[in-house]
Amino acid sequence: MKKILLLLIAALFLLSGALYSVGSDKQVDDEYDEDTYGPEDPIIWTMPVKSVVFEHKVHTMGAELECDSCHDDLFEMEAGVAEENEDFTMATLYDGGYCGSCHDGSTAFASNTRCTACHIGVRGHARLQGEDESAEAHH
Ligand code: HEC
Ligand code: HEC
Ligand code: HEC
Repeated sequence: MKKILLLLIAALFLLSGALYSVGSDKQVDDEYDEDTYGPEDPIIWTMPVKSVVFEHKVHTMGAELECDSCHDDLFEMEAGVAEENEDFTMATLYDGGYCGSCHDGSTAFASNTRCTACHIGVRGHARLQGEDESAEAHH
């Protein structure tokens, strides 16, 4: 009997710990929570063209996608992996690969439209890096 009581107390202890951590998560809800929505900083690819941007916020917080709709079938959880692949091109996107698995005109806007939504170009890249454009011109 005593043993059961001890177990119960231990269980309650653990539970209150769990509840406490849920509570403390709530406190930072106003801010962007990377555990819930993925990295806050945009991911920027510069190969083969400069520059294409991806924002977790738009996709998770905004479009309410789960992590596993992209990880790890379409993308690794590591920035810069996809751009190492030779097939990271518009042709593959149009065939339904990478971003094109959703950006096909039904789940999300089609990859052959709104080029500048994804392509922020050299100026957009400089802006996100906090460089000024004249500095960029020397690269
Ligand atoms: C709509 C697609 C999509 C969704 C949904 C998504 N991710 Fe990602 N994630 C990406 C892409 C694209 C990359 C960059 C991969 C690359 O460059 O090869 C990435 C990279 C990452 C990275 C690595 C960042 C770095 O700087 O190395 C982490 C961590 C990550 N995602 C976590 C998450 C978590 C957590 C979720 C769910 C809350 C999530 N992702 C949902 C597309 C997505
Ligand atoms: C799992 C599905 C999915 C994948 C994969 C995906 N997206 Fe999206 N994306 C969406 C949805 C849904 C929206 C919101 C609806 C819309 O804008 O059509 C969206 C919106 C966007 C927007 C619009 C932002 C705005 O301000 O309107 C951009 C830019 C974007 N995605 C870029 C990308 C890029 C780049 C990739 C590949 C690295 C990618 N997405 C991969 C589903 C996806
Ligand atoms: C949904 C996001 C998205 C949209 C919309 C999009 N692109 Fe891309 N584009 C990418 C990604 C991702 C890459 C590969 C990464 C890189 O080159 O930095 C890429 C690469 C490219 C490349 C170099 C590789 C290749 O295919 O030759 C060109 C050129 C290009 N895009 C042109 C366009 C044009 C033109 C449009 C509009 C008609 C467009 N893109 C719309 C995401 C997009």
